[in-house]
Amino acid sequence: MAFTPRVFSGIQPSGDLHLGNYLGAIRRFVPLQATHETIYCVVDMHAITVWQEPEQLRRSTRELAAAYVAAGIDPKKSIIFNQSRVHQHAELAWVFNCVARMGWMARMTQFKDKAGKNSENVSLGLFAYPSLMAADILLYKATHVPVGDDQKQHLELTRDIAQKFNNDYAASIAAEGLPAEFFPITEPLIAGPATRIMSLRDGTKKMSKSDPSDQSRISLLDDADTISKKIKRATTDPEPLPSELKGLEGRAEADNLVGIYAALSDLSKEQVIAEFGGKGWGVFKPALADLAVTVLAPIAGEMQRLVADPASIDAFMADGAERASAIAEATMKDVRQIVGFIR
Ligand code: TYM
Repeated sequence: MAFTPRVFSGIQPSGDLHLGNYLGAIRRFVPLQATHETIYCVVDMHAITVWQEPEQLRRSTRELAAAYVAAGIDPKKSIIFNQSRVHQHAELAWVFNCVARMGWMARMTQFKDKAGKNSENVSLGLFAYPSLMAADILLYKATHVPVGDDQKQHLELTRDIAQKFNNDYAASIAAEGLPAEFFPITEPLIAGPATRIMSLRDGTKKMSKSDPSDQSRISLLDDADTISKKIKRATTDPEPLPSELKGLEGRAEADNLVGIYAALSDLSKEQVIAEFGGKGWGVFKPALADLAVTVLAPIAGEMQRLVADPASIDAFMADGAERASAIAEATMKDVRQIVGFIR
């Protein structure tokens, strides 16, 4: 069955947005607007799986919505909204909690990383998190989901949930006269040179908002001087850049900085190596710092401008939520029938 080519993705408003979020996700959301229906969500319900100060959550929600727009997502063309406003996310997540198996959830590496030794004490929501993520995607029958590499396992789980729902309820789906593939088997879009941006301090660790060192990441709200300094101080080995891509193997820090340059300039890593192969860090780092400032400073400026007018952000998110609700309710109407709920 042919589904409308529809893109869904979400980001948690749980603190500082960083270069990994921008290059792995937000920047890649923009061109998809030309080819797909696009829905970009601020997943505030996911954020509260770990404690969030309420006022700070509201600020971070608006800040993320502002980042979407500042980066080039058009709120008239795309649907931009915050998850909690469309109650069908919670409703479908419950159904999926009853479809997904404990064993599937227990295998999620991100849960294991986040819970660590503390797994008895983390919220139940943190454990069930991927089921809400599957609901986000499948509520809109999204066919494609652009994300960074760290979300790959969650997207595989989303496919498993869709498949199991379609199978478990096959007879009921048929009795309702609905297509056998009721939920699509969604394709992850994980491609390009920046699917896994690493820490600027340690090329073996992912750039992340939970890293205690502020020097490890570039925040989307960093000013030009801070961006420049962080890049110039980034950990590297002493060798010059290799003249072939293969030469980046085993050089995590060099590979990361070349990947960042490539993603910021819409080039491949090969093209960056063709330009800078054989050059030392004294040449490459200033070039990368200039490029990062040129790309990121206008986004930061636009974000600040938008955040200063929260009412306008709330207005486009309300409009987005209304458009999202129309699609979400159409899916939920069918799901309630399929499952056997009386309405
Ligand atoms: P979150 O909020 O942790 O991250 C948002 C997006 O940024 C990507 N990302 C990175 N990409 C490259 N390098 C990095 N160092 C890096 N760090 C983060 C993430 O892969 C992600 O694309 N579970 C999701 C949010 C979510 C979602 C969804 C995504 C909820 N529902 C439905 C897609 C579809 C998360 O926690 O992302």
